Amino acid sequence: MATQNVGTFSVAADGVDPNKVPKKTLYTGAKIPAIGLGTFGSDRFSGEDIAKAVVGAASVGYRHFDCASVYGNEHLIGPALTEIMRGGVRRDDLWVTSKLWNDKHGEKDVGPSCEKSVKDLRLEYLNLYLVHWPFPNFHSPGCDVSSRSPDAKPYIHENFMKTWRQMEKLVERGLVRHIGTSNMTVPKLKLLLRDARIKPACNEMEQHPHFQQPELFKFAMDNGIQPIGFCPIGSPTRPDRDKTQTDTVDIQDPVIVNIAKRLNVHPAVVCVKWAVQRGQIPIPFSVFRNEYLSNLQCTASAPLTAEEMKAIAGIDRNCRLIKGQVFLWKDGQTWEDLWDLSGRITPP
Ligand SMILES: NC(=O)c1ccc[n+]([C@@H]2O[C@H](COP(=O)([O-])OP(=O)(O)OC[C@H]3O[C@@H](n4cnc5c(N)ncnc54)[C@H](OP(=O)(O)O)[C@@H]3O)[C@@H](O)[C@H]2O)c1
Repeated sequence: MATQNVGTFSVAADGVDPNKVPKKTLYTGAKIPAIGLGTFGSDRFSGEDIAKAVVGAASVGYRHFDCASVYGNEHLIGPALTEIMRGGVRRDDLWVTSKLWNDKHGEKDVGPSCEKSVKDLRLEYLNLYLVHWPFPNFHSPGCDVSSRSPDAKPYIHENFMKTWRQMEKLVERGLVRHIGTSNMTVPKLKLLLRDARIKPACNEMEQHPHFQQPELFKFAMDNGIQPIGFCPIGSPTRPDRDKTQTDTVDIQDPVIVNIAKRLNVHPAVVCVKWAVQRGQIPIPFSVFRNEYLSNLQCTASAPLTAEEMKAIAGIDRNCRLIKGQVFLWKDGQTWEDLWDLSGRITPP
């Protein structure tokens, strides 16, 4: 679909010049903005709200949008992206990610699934297409954490590679520029790096001050895989069904609160700023202009001090929020089984 440039999508006076937003360079040489807008509205926001936020975010300087078919709103984000490009933003200056959902890992499903996302988003190609979870286990959106799919399967590397081969074909077809993973672990990534013809450019993973995942982060960086950090603020408004009593709250941590006071910003902004400075790409979600604007502004302001970075490094609580219980495949397991904590892939 050709994009008409019929106007000027100028950045708001209080926005950030997209050229001043930091960028990361992937192993292909491609440049990706070091912050993106999350687009998962969960139970709280409609697709229309989020599509409006995408246009609003672009008008304050965002150029990177983290989408997924399972968010159920790509058909509404598509027209928003068209509006942005009609306003004069070049496709080359946008970064759009989408993700393959768990019930589409089958060899015949990967291509059509990607084509649908590309079509819904009204694009000709995606910058990045991720395998959303390494488990082929469907669960309905919004289901309770105790829900289990009767034919849930463990991670089987041979099967994952069949999916990955189809992901590689999408790059060869030009439908996507990069492929990557999400919710992976070090042992799973090691196998993928061993067997991939096209290696993952990015791994999307949960990362916030109370869940820094230093080992996986270092492994990814050492292997030229750019970490993209989801729930960068600790997803404070996630549904109650996704909260447990032991979960901690990043934006209430005194270290974060004190830095926020010094900078005169909301503690959420400190989490985003820390993420960019540490090296992952945060994808904070918000539909509110003041929030998504301040999350972007902080990426272009004076950095946190070395002492502040050290203090935040010291508040990791190893507190995983998105535990993934719904993907467990047999009775008697706990969510830890999904995350290969022993250093090897949990056996079937
Ligand atoms: N790959 C995966 O498996 C995966 C999993 C989860 C999420 N994701 C992606 O990551 C994105 C972000 O995750 P998330 O939405 O769960 O968590 P998050 O970005 O950590 O938290 C979002 C919430 O933080 C609050 N917030 C944002 N900016 C703020 C600011 N400047 N000041 C005050 N509060 C602020 C907002 O609450 P209010 O709305 O109440 O203001 C917002 O709803 C998702 O949208 C999605 O794109 C990917």
